[in-house]
Amino acid sequence: MSEIVSIQTVGVVGAGTMGAGIAQVAATAGYDVTMVDVESDLVDAGFDRIDDSLDRLVGRDDLTREEADAALDRIDGSTETANLGDADLAIEAVVESMDVKRKVFADLDDVCGDGAILATNTSTLSITSIAEATDRPAQVVGLHFMNPVPIMPGVEVVDGEKTSAEALRTAHEFAESLDKETWESDDKPGFVVNRVLMPWINEGIRALDEGVATKDDIDRGLKLGTNVPMGPLELADHVGLDVCLHASETLHDELGDRYKPAYLLKRKVEAGDLGKKTGQGFYEYDQE
Ligand code: NAI
Repeated sequence: MSEIVSIQTVGVVGAGTMGAGIAQVAATAGYDVTMVDVESDLVDAGFDRIDDSLDRLVGRDDLTREEADAALDRIDGSTETANLGDADLAIEAVVESMDVKRKVFADLDDVCGDGAILATNTSTLSITSIAEATDRPAQVVGLHFMNPVPIMPGVEVVDGEKTSAEALRTAHEFAESLDKETWESDDKPGFVVNRVLMPWINEGIRALDEGVATKDDIDRGLKLGTNVPMGPLELADHVGLDVCLHASETLHDELGDRYKPAYLLKRKVEAGDLGKKTGQGFYEYDQE
């Protein structure tokens, strides 16, 4: 294993919801960032997301205009993973597909320096299996950011079968340098958060489908009864019902029947009602 370098330059692969958020918080913390996507309009869309998010933070006095502009200046965009040769840490946030992620990791392994750490933002896939696409599995780790990245206070650090103690420590320290708190999970399906969250969401959906209560009363009951900020149906809409279904199916495949997705969740996704992003999930939303 190579000696891990101290992190100054960060590469982010994928400029979607999560990748743009990760690039933004890394740049805000002072890192030089290169954000890669497959096409230049997707990179541009990532920059638009970052712009909007920084504007909101400035509007709330969480950042000054100068800090926001300086953060934006620290981010370069690219359509070539080959441009991540200088990255001390590369964070992958592409679609949740093992084949696509393994290909990205094989490419990163080729282009990044020997001391670089390669991290994945996967929600449910095996870090160990992704790491095996590289010749440096000891330097592959899970850095599972939460959505929306600039707002959520925590990052789940995931320990793959061959992840070294040093890589894990560096991952915690990096997340902490972004002003996030961390917790650690072994490389088991869904890690901590989705393993516990997905059955909770599915049970809320089943309660609706089986007529236990109205959707409002299910969400109000969980909010008022357990002090969570959102009930299961509202949270499912926020995450995206397709994302919930995909995560539930992965957990079901790996862990068996207690993770079976709710029938109504499948039906909603089949109907194209994916939650907030389509304007219709369990609730109706104004489209932006
Ligand atoms: P997204 O669909 O918004 O963005 C993915 C981006 O990756 C797209 O812009 C796509 O063009 C790009 N991409 C695909 N293949 C690529 C490649 N080979 N090279 C460069 N870019 C490529 O997806 P999202 O929501 O940002 O999710 C990304 C990852 O983060 C997934 O693994 C997901 O499970 C995970 N995640 C998502 C959360 C969420 O709430 N959306 C929360 C936590 C983790």
